[in-house]
Amino acid sequence: MTQDELKDAVAAAALDEIRPLLGRQVVIGVGTGSTANRFIDRLATLRGDFRGAVASSEASAERLRSHGIDVFELNETGTVPVYVDGADEVNAHLQMIKGGGAALTREKVVAACAERFVCIADASKLVERLGDFPLPVEVIPMARSYVARELVKLGADPVYRQGVVTDNGNQILDCYEFMIDDPVAMEARLNAIVGVVTNGLFAARGADVLLLGTDQGVERRT
Ligand code: 5RP
Repeated sequence: MTQDELKDAVAAAALDEIRPLLGRQVVIGVGTGSTANRFIDRLATLRGDFRGAVASSEASAERLRSHGIDVFELNETGTVPVYVDGADEVNAHLQMIKGGGAALTREKVVAACAERFVCIADASKLVERLGDFPLPVEVIPMARSYVARELVKLGADPVYRQGVVTDNGNQILDCYEFMIDDPVAMEARLNAIVGVVTNGLFAARGADVLLLGTDQGVERRT
């Protein structure tokens, strides 16, 4: 199967995953990226069976609205029963690197407010050790150089993602050559650098369910 077909398969599986919640006027947490987009397109077929969605990016909010799905502010909804999103890398502990689409901060906030995080990913995203994918770090613009120097001290090779401004008006440093042995500790360490808004390690709060698209079918891991 192609990667696109695997993404379609996990998007369909995610719809089955949330089906028990439908009919209860719930608000669904919706992520960002090409896999999440496929989920959004499928979710549209069930419009009317749920109240609406909170989105982890302006792009996803726009796509949801284009399907006629109401988009709510997280401040209005409070906790959401489920958050469905993709990942750039995921390990056997369901810890992830996210933020390839620069939406990491809002993704982490919605994930923090979700009772259940369902990660949807094709098999290429499953890794033994996180870090081959350059770890995104969102920074306040005036702190970019300072944070980059601190990241070098931690062994990373940070590269400014030119031309990208996040939905929060910030910038992204992508950390190359950053092999991460202890994701929970590194997530906390990066959060402690002044000027860092968020880092793309989703380890302290990983996924609760992984729907992994493989040639043999969608594997459900918990
Ligand atoms: C966006 C993300 C995405 O979930 C991640 O980049 C995966 O994207 P895709 O489904 O397109 O491979 O974290 O910030």
